Amino acid sequence: MDDARSHDHVALNRAAWDIMSAEYAEPGRRAWASDEAWWGIWHVPDSDLQLLPDVKGLDTIELGCGTAYVSAWLARRGARPVGIDNSPKQLATARELQREHGIAFPLLLGNAETVPLPDASFDLAISEYGAALWCDPYKWIPEASRLLRPSGLLIFYTNGTILTLCEKDDEDVPVQAELHRPYFGLHRTEWSDNNTVEFHLGYGDWIRLLRASGFDVENLVEVRPPLGATTRYPYVDISWARRWPSEEAWIARKR
Ligand SMILES: C[S@@+](CC[C@H](N)C(=O)[O-])C[C@H]1O[C@@H](n2cnc3c(N)ncnc32)[C@H](O)[C@@H]1O
Repeated sequence: MDDARSHDHVALNRAAWDIMSAEYAEPGRRAWASDEAWWGIWHVPDSDLQLLPDVKGLDTIELGCGTAYVSAWLARRGARPVGIDNSPKQLATARELQREHGIAFPLLLGNAETVPLPDASFDLAISEYGAALWCDPYKWIPEASRLLRPSGLLIFYTNGTILTLCEKDDEDVPVQAELHRPYFGLHRTEWSDNNTVEFHLGYGDWIRLLRASGFDVENLVEVRPPLGATTRYPYVDISWARRWPSEEAWIARKR
């Protein structure tokens, strides 16, 4: 991949997220208003998935924080969060919600692949569909490792690999039980409808990258939403998601 192409995803995704941010303001407002933490497109409660550790007193960074509701939940649980996001519009919503809720923490505008903060500044790095999906893993995973202190925890939550393999180019049509993409070579995925670039890896590549970046993998949670769960996203329905993992959460600890 030439150097220009390897960097253009940051500019393309910023332009796209500045447009898509309008659709994320109200969901962000509802998430800020919730005391309960939940995950992903099905809003599976953390009490079911148990991804969050006790964060009281921890320095945390949310990589691709969007409207920053995950960091708001961490703040309410006693953490000292920092959020970074690539979209000025998403951060504008996050700042408005900080004011509405009287919860303040630093929000940085920038690329989560190159965070302008010192090494070993955080105990927890977290991403729910932020860097986890929109940044190049060969850049943001080593960057998360750099930012974490020894024994620091990385939690990231993104599309399930099997879902990605079943996706066609049209995100408005729910996936079926058919493979449409090769597994080998998974990395950069371009979407022509909204001009965005996502990143996915196969399981072996994730494990090798995490280990090479100084992490031990502690868990891979393949998310099965409860019966009756709903989502506002059209690309998957509950009958599919009850049979195959539409989402996955990785938990890794820095050595
Ligand atoms: C789906 S939101 C994730 C935030 C929140 N958890 C949510 O689900 O709404 C994706 C966010 O990733 C951000 N993002 C995309 N590329 C990024 C990059 N290179 N660095 C930091 N943030 C990025 C986007 O601006 C967007 O706010």
